[in-house]
Amino acid sequence: MKRLILLVGVAVLTLGLVACPTEYENGLAHIGDAPSLRVIWDNYFPMGNIIAATTFGWQAGHTADIGNPARERLLRRHFSLLTAENEMKPDQLQPTQGSFRWVNSDRIVNFANDSTHPMGLHGHVLVWHSQSPVWMAPAGNRAAAIANMRNHIRTVMLRYGTRVESWEVLNEVFASWVTGTPNAGNWRNFLRQPAANQTNWPVAIPLDTATGNCFIWYAFTIAREVADEIDTAAGRPVGTMVLYYNDYNEEATGKMNGIYFMVQEMNERFARENNGRRLIDAIGMQAHHHRGHVTGQDARPGWTRQSTAASVQTAIRRFASLGVYVSITELDITVGNTDVSVLTAAQERAQAIRYAELFRMFRNNAQYIRRVSIWGVNDNASWRHQGSPLLWDAQLRPKEAFWAVADPEAFLANPDNFARDRTIAQMRDAAVNIPASAWD
Ligand code: XIL
Repeated sequence: MKRLILLVGVAVLTLGLVACPTEYENGLAHIGDAPSLRVIWDNYFPMGNIIAATTFGWQAGHTADIGNPARERLLRRHFSLLTAENEMKPDQLQPTQGSFRWVNSDRIVNFANDSTHPMGLHGHVLVWHSQSPVWMAPAGNRAAAIANMRNHIRTVMLRYGTRVESWEVLNEVFASWVTGTPNAGNWRNFLRQPAANQTNWPVAIPLDTATGNCFIWYAFTIAREVADEIDTAAGRPVGTMVLYYNDYNEEATGKMNGIYFMVQEMNERFARENNGRRLIDAIGMQAHHHRGHVTGQDARPGWTRQSTAASVQTAIRRFASLGVYVSITELDITVGNTDVSVLTAAQERAQAIRYAELFRMFRNNAQYIRRVSIWGVNDNASWRHQGSPLLWDAQLRPKEAFWAVADPEAFLANPDNFARDRTIAQMRDAAVNIPASAWD
């Protein structure tokens, strides 16, 4: 019996070892090895993606990347910068007050800092209403909430120091759908009101009209203080660490203006009080887009989705006019409301065209863009898997969307050249802007 168990164990192990790499090899077999997105885009901006240290939550196909050779290899081949998908969120790092849990975030930091494959690392996220413990922001106890916020930000940022190059200080403070007209005087009317089971920073630390201080001001000024300490200790200029405000639906006019006026007010005040220094360095545009009709949680009666290349470009330029960096932080584009198993050729094409239009526009606006990060590798592991939103399919085969990102101009000129049945030689012939080194 013992021997049988051993035999089965060895067989399972062997299969497992073989199965991991072949998932990737087989996936690419019909087209050979796909060109590296990281190399293709290197002259314009770093290409980023997310990483998971563990299989997470409710997502059916969600998979840990670390320890999976195929996924590790894919991330390192195509991307130069990582964001932890979940492992650096407040509920993961400090589930109960004062006891921090570093094991998974440490694994991600170590992966990014691996000496043979160093990658950039963006910290996500310090202050948020979601995936954060409710105790952090006790209603009616402003002092305790500020102390909790300070302790969390300080402890997390100081643990990783310069191994994290930028931080999402604050995420999603505006309502999902801003239908009014925010301006410099009224933008606070459009802030999100967190639900009862969420972390309610705006209620715990409301605007103090005497000082102008509010939870947004505290989050950024605390993070700024710690960032300066990290920069100084590392002997590099203060301001090297980049601090982000991050949000979604940011290309819709109302939301765009809410973000614009918030950042403008925070930065103007900080500059007045600190010899012209900037408080918020960068605006992160999540870019969770849709292509075509949507249903379910993303449907809004009467709402016209505006995430075209033109509307995203308008937002990029408007934000950049504040003198901040702009990054695309969580790009994915769902198509319809289907699932990986039923993505039609027409849907795949429509989605790829949108990716191509966006990346062509990113190239033309590269002077404003600090990085472009995609939120996931393959459709079935995506948090929006019902919409098959990513560049690789469930078998890790590059979709048309992959080729659209690899060479948007050539793709738009003739998408059929990049159809799934094409060989790698045909893809090479069809490509116009892919440098030779990217195919290595
Ligand atoms: C998502 C993760 O991808 C999921 O695994 C998790 O269940 C929920 O959060 N905006 C953000 C990200 O800033 O942190 C979210 O990530 C997606 C929306």
